[in-house]
Amino acid sequence: MSTPHIDAELGDFAKVVLMPGDPRRASYIAQNYLEDSRLVTDVRNAAGYTGRFEGTELSIMPSGMGMPSAAIYITELYRSFGVETIIRIGTAGGFSSELQLRDMVVASNCITNSRMPELLLGHSEYQLAPTASLLEAALDLSREAGLALQSGTIFTSDIFYEPDETLNHRMTQNGVLCVEMETAALYAIAEIEQKQALSVVTISDHLTSGAHLSPEERQSTLDSMIQFSLELASNEAKAIG
Ligand code: HPA
Repeated sequence: MSTPHIDAELGDFAKVVLMPGDPRRASYIAQNYLEDSRLVTDVRNAAGYTGRFEGTELSIMPSGMGMPSAAIYITELYRSFGVETIIRIGTAGGFSSELQLRDMVVASNCITNSRMPELLLGHSEYQLAPTASLLEAALDLSREAGLALQSGTIFTSDIFYEPDETLNHRMTQNGVLCVEMETAALYAIAEIEQKQALSVVTISDHLTSGAHLSPEERQSTLDSMIQFSLELASNEAKAIG
């Protein structure tokens, strides 16, 4: 049964979904990494695909930018399409001087300036965290693959063009690794819907040094995150059965 933003049937999506922000990135992953991929929805050009990665059925669905957009797709996938696990793969701006461009970060904790989690959960004493077993699986896989994966607190902001010039400093002081715009919605909704979630991001720009990746560097760096996340998603899909 279609929802307002996803024109598909129950069964069209795999139980495990990889969710980049950019719809073009979703198409790129489906075309370059999935076997027998098929388009399952394209409402508002948010093209979702289902195919197989190393024999395991997986789906790719873009979130769009920001929590309001991401929350719509996340809620509809969990509630109406039998999706059990969503793994966000995105980019983020680094705060910490210990983080370099291209570093991959998994959000073991998330803070936000948005009221969305409070409004959804109905209280303000929340903790935004991923599914513990998925976080552990990601850390194990990164060790096996010899890939550096930092784990820590990320900041989900409603604001890209941040006017507060003290923010970088405050975040760095508090040990917050990086900023992006979707993870808090994913973790809050996963908790409400009793589903699984994890957010993995690559540092595409550095807010303290001003450095950022060239388009070619961005592509090759994202390719290694895509490969890593597909393996993680495929292991998860096998575990769910
Ligand atoms: N701010 C918010 N989201 C982002 C950024 C940023 O600097 N870089 C990548 N995603």
